[in-house]
Amino acid sequence: MKNNAVIDRYCVMGNPVQHSKSPWIHARFALLTAQPLAYEQRLVPLHGFAASLHEFMASSGAKGCNVTVPFKFEAFALAQHVSARAALAGAANTLSFRPDGIHADNTDGAGLVRDIEVNAGVKLAGRRLLLLGAGGAAAGVLGPLLRSGVAQITVANRTLAKAQQLVHQHAALATRDTLVASTLAEVQGRYDVVINATSTSLSGESLALPSALLQHGALAYDMMYGPAAQGFLAWARALGAEPRDGAGMLVEQAAEAFFIWRGVRPPSAQVLAELRAL
Ligand code: ATR
Repeated sequence: MKNNAVIDRYCVMGNPVQHSKSPWIHARFALLTAQPLAYEQRLVPLHGFAASLHEFMASSGAKGCNVTVPFKFEAFALAQHVSARAALAGAANTLSFRPDGIHADNTDGAGLVRDIEVNAGVKLAGRRLLLLGAGGAAAGVLGPLLRSGVAQITVANRTLAKAQQLVHQHAALATRDTLVASTLAEVQGRYDVVINATSTSLSGESLALPSALLQHGALAYDMMYGPAAQGFLAWARALGAEPRDGAGMLVEQAAEAFFIWRGVRPPSAQVLAELRAL
């Protein structure tokens, strides 16, 4: 790099954001792929996302950012160009600043699918899948899950109307019987893969789910990681399911964002192993 060259800069914007692992993950990706870049975290005031985004964009070297709770919907709305998967989710976690404006993408679903299929080794084609929750986290992953060739997805949510809305939004990707909405209390069937996309773990509440939902040896996936994932995973483990937390999804959604920005695929499996060893 020339002495006067400005280094490309990225960041993660959120609130809260202080415990984000994204700066560490992207620093490892940059080092392992020899990409010269800087990545920082930015705590954004709850009503100040647009101003913070434009301030960062105007700063020297800024090329893009990741966006986390609660700004993914606003990030999507502020973009001039949106990818198909961001449009389906109605939310964005990856923004790229280009000469023709802000490009929005959503890498959460691709990250989840890759973690399940590549890192956990569970192929989704032909599987029956239960997605718990119908908020932002569920909306971000439903499109890529449907595109993975699953046989059926039930979206179960405490508030039925929100599950129905999410199913309606994705109707073009599924036939009537392959994508259905349910309440948590009335969910039926047995599933090969159960994904917890509710925020119950954060509030310390637990989901009252029938044990018959899990096929023996089913994959039970919590999109959270660390202590927040443990309640759901302990429930699933006690029923003979294979538990998996969201650390792999976190690394894989970051890898997909890194690829969008830099055109280079980082060694995500290595960085996931390093993250787990920390
Ligand atoms: P996120 O962006 O994390 O998805 P969100 O959009 O607020 O956050 O959505 C939270 C999800 O967790 C919703 O599906 C919510 O169910 P409701 O739509 O009925 O509110 C679910 N959730 C939160 N607390 C819950 C609880 N105690 N029991 C069951 N579901 C819960």
